Amino acid sequence: MSRRKLVVGNWKMNGLRAQLGEVEAIGGLAREHGSVEVGLCLPATLIAAADAVKGGAFVGAQDCHMRASGAHTGCLSAPMLAEAGASWTIVGHSERRQDQGETDADVAAKALAAKAAGLKVILCVGESLEVRDAGDAEAVVSAQLLASLPEGAAADWLSIAYEPIWAIGTGRIPTMEAVAEMHAALRAALARRIGGEADAVRILYGGSMNGDNAAELLALADVDGGLIGGASLTAEKFAPVIAAAA
Ligand code: PGA
Repeated sequence: MSRRKLVVGNWKMNGLRAQLGEVEAIGGLAREHGSVEVGLCLPATLIAAADAVKGGAFVGAQDCHMRASGAHTGCLSAPMLAEAGASWTIVGHSERRQDQGETDADVAAKALAAKAAGLKVILCVGESLEVRDAGDAEAVVSAQLLASLPEGAAADWLSIAYEPIWAIGTGRIPTMEAVAEMHAALRAALARRIGGEADAVRILYGGSMNGDNAAELLALADVDGGLIGGASLTAEKFAPVIAAAA
């Protein structure tokens, strides 16, 4: 099964209008490397302006509410993000699971809300260092994936990002063997739920991916792309990751 590589920047709570030049430059890189699907999940405040300069990249959000509208002060719904110019959103990032106490059920509901608004979804899962050290990572992350998986999960709108929490922003990554094993375990877990469709679902790696390690990670059989934080904030840092995916 050949799956088109998907390389997505997650800017987190970074980015003001002064950084739109980086969006534009990354959009240019995306045009140059048309074999790769490239996107930027931006702070919602930048989505509309980024949409105008995004070139060959797509613009996405980092989260959405599970309802389309209502009395939820400070929250943004999937239809709002879509109207602003987002075509994708992340759901279930570990920083939201931790900081906002989002549960697996919340994450599944958010994914469905995104789909209903026409957004594609990157659903994040990953283990803590404690779980990794106890040798339980594959079982725990597989269970987290199945518990977070929305109804009707299919490759044309849903991708998965495996992000070990202890690798995010730390400069540490698992061994290549551990990444390969986890991605194979996640695909097998998906297959138990959605059958042969699992072969088409893209499973990204995230956590300290950068220009130095991307080529090796992206060459692993079940690694279909990356979700990149720090190394996506400038075109200069993101360029070698995109090139590695191409
Ligand atoms: P990082 O973040 O690349 O800065 O480790 C990845 C993520 O949290 O999506």
